[in-house]
Amino acid sequence: MTELPSEHDLLTLPKVELHLHLNGAISEATAATLAGRYGEDPERALRLVDGHYPYPYSSFHDFLDAYLAANSFVRDPDDLEFVAAEFARAQAAQNVVYSEAQFTAMILVRQGMEPQGMWAALKRGLAAAGPEVRIGLIVDVIRNLGREEAEATLRLVEEADAPIVGLGLTGVEGSVPITEFVEFRAAARRLGLGFTIHAGETGADPVQSMVESLDILETDRIGHGVAAVRDQPLLERLVRDQVPLEVCPSSNVGIGLFPTLEVHPVVSFWTAGVNLTISSDDPPFFGITMIDELRNFVRLTGASRDDLAELQRRGARAAFAGEEVKARLLSQIDSWADSNNVRNETLASPAR
Ligand code: ADE
Ligand code: ZN
Repeated sequence: MTELPSEHDLLTLPKVELHLHLNGAISEATAATLAGRYGEDPERALRLVDGHYPYPYSSFHDFLDAYLAANSFVRDPDDLEFVAAEFARAQAAQNVVYSEAQFTAMILVRQGMEPQGMWAALKRGLAAAGPEVRIGLIVDVIRNLGREEAEATLRLVEEADAPIVGLGLTGVEGSVPITEFVEFRAAARRLGLGFTIHAGETGADPVQSMVESLDILETDRIGHGVAAVRDQPLLERLVRDQVPLEVCPSSNVGIGLFPTLEVHPVVSFWTAGVNLTISSDDPPFFGITMIDELRNFVRLTGASRDDLAELQRRGARAAFAGEEVKARLLSQIDSWADSNNVRNETLASPAR
């Protein structure tokens, strides 16, 4: 029999988180401090309810309003350093030893932040995680803003002195034809960066958006991907090709895609053998942490300690980090498993 993970396991397990947003990791307290600094009433400007962001949201757009309101107060490099340091400390405190944080640089540049100062502040802030915790950046484009936004983002990336490991597409699926981003995707290859797309989450046809992400942009990973539950051939393709899926259940429930975690497709994906990983997306905006997400995952799937370790190995394998970093992560996870008598035995959701 496999053992159920304890709270101690959830904390000590070296974790890999592939899908969360630095712009979505601004706590209410930090956003309120920044709003106050710029002479705004935090409660009103951030729509706080009992000190919290107004989750659950009525829609993705409702969430985006809250997210952009908080980001509107990240105006100078010191603000960004503060936000990045808070994020880095939160990852370190949870023993998330490797994270890939999406960063929409253009939000801040459009607000007047000077790019070199922005990257320098980011690096200073992320250093607060300490030497044992690595954080790579995935610089993303809000796809609704179109091809020019992607071109401007690419210019920023090419000039950046920052630990960038990937490029990504966020925002509303189908808002702009995906073919507008063919060059952006090609640039990721040219620069030796990974590529991930939020797909199967928003828009009028999230299934088609997933298929196009795979066929047209040949994405390395898919963020969310939950629409695949409605399309058996797509689900079979994901399993056959072991496409890494960055699943963020609380975020999906928080924007109303599913009424509760209990009916979220993560359980059927896990049983079907989808190569899924678990992430927290925009933690304070949904009132959760990575450890909360893993605890929920255990509750929903009955995952064992072996399964949890394997979930982190999947994250390490699908990471955009260099081979050396990935090998180190795998060995850290293996050491945890060995020291906790977790055997590499049959999984509920076999990795192929
Ligand atoms: N940007 C931040 N969070 C997002 C999400 N869940 N979907 C699309 N874009 C996002
Ligand atoms: Zn996301």
